[in-house]
Amino acid sequence: MKVPLLDLGAQIKRLRPEIIKAIEEVIDSNQYILGPKVAALEEAISDYVGCRYAIGTSSGTDALLSSLMALGIGHQDLVITSVYSFFSTASVIVRLSARPIFIDIDPITYNIDTKRLEDWFKKNREEVRKVRAIIPVHLYGQCADMGPILDISRRYNIPVIEDAAQALGAEYRLEDRVFKAGSMGNVGCFSFFPSKNLGAMGDGGMAVTNDKELADRLRIIRVHGARPKYFHSLIGGNFRLDSIQAAILLVKLPYLERWHKERRKNAERYEILFKNTKLLERQLIKLPKVLYKDLKNGHIFNQYIIRAKRRDELRKFLKERGIGTAIYYPLPFHLQPCFRYLGYKKGDFPEAERAAEETLALPIYPELTEEMQVYIVEKIDEFYEIS
Ligand SMILES: Cc1ncc(COP(=O)(O)O)c(C=O)c1O
Repeated sequence: MKVPLLDLGAQIKRLRPEIIKAIEEVIDSNQYILGPKVAALEEAISDYVGCRYAIGTSSGTDALLSSLMALGIGHQDLVITSVYSFFSTASVIVRLSARPIFIDIDPITYNIDTKRLEDWFKKNREEVRKVRAIIPVHLYGQCADMGPILDISRRYNIPVIEDAAQALGAEYRLEDRVFKAGSMGNVGCFSFFPSKNLGAMGDGGMAVTNDKELADRLRIIRVHGARPKYFHSLIGGNFRLDSIQAAILLVKLPYLERWHKERRKNAERYEILFKNTKLLERQLIKLPKVLYKDLKNGHIFNQYIIRAKRRDELRKFLKERGIGTAIYYPLPFHLQPCFRYLGYKKGDFPEAERAAEETLALPIYPELTEEMQVYIVEKIDEFYEIS
């Protein structure tokens, strides 16, 4: 049996006629960049997330970059973020000549450890006044612990940019209200990279905010800082979203909740299947933990991440048996050669280093069948039985 890590073809099979029709509409409209499709998507996403404004961008990376630019972050500013995420969470900071401060992760959620974040503020009183933003990442589809992060943000008057690239629709409870990822900080950033729960057929992203002025700046920055055209009040970039991508995303968005549900069902099924083995008891593998169980979308499982003993051998074993897996992320930021100049060293962030060595993503996409999951679990069991 073959089980890829992700099978976008299975999703497209369901939606092909609708998508082709939407693309044809764009072709006939002669409006290929921004335009009514992007405006409609912005409205739909802002409604879904519960934010007043949404600004479609060329990618999730550009949503993050333009958010930092809109907040005026630049030379010598400090920006605090998690040491364990996709590269662009950190690279956007450096591209603006600001300096990232990395914080280790919580070993259960892989999100920024808010106790360590608090500690950093206590131990670095001199540097605190240079901190211009905090970027928590909602990794794998589960929100970072936003309560303490927003507390710090209020206390020190530092804006929060949520990297919600993997978490469109994920929920978090703040006091007695439920919020969607991206709607809690000053600005939230999403990615529509094809493998995301809501994926385009190319690159795309979006920034959301409730701050009118910030939204306005983001819109200007998206078009080279110009308003009107050719008159540049700011330095921006070409951060525009294509109409075809917006049209495709508008077709897919109504299915998103169903896909979240199917992913969640698959996660529950893994739990049952793994509990029928001895793998958990023998601590050979660990399953992901959903912290916000009382919320419908407490975890949207953009990725399903297990910890596994002898991870690399297991991965090879599964590959030879037709099962696709991935390692997100094999090297935390502080060990990346391009960030060596920051002066961090091996051992500085033990939890991120351990996650990089132990974690493995298993297939979780909505169309994954029970038969496939049974096969995956059987093969993992077999690996530890025979070796
Ligand atoms: C956590 C995180 N941040 C940022 C990004 C950047 O998004 P994009 O690939 O759309 O530029 C991604 C996705 O790849 C991501 O997973």
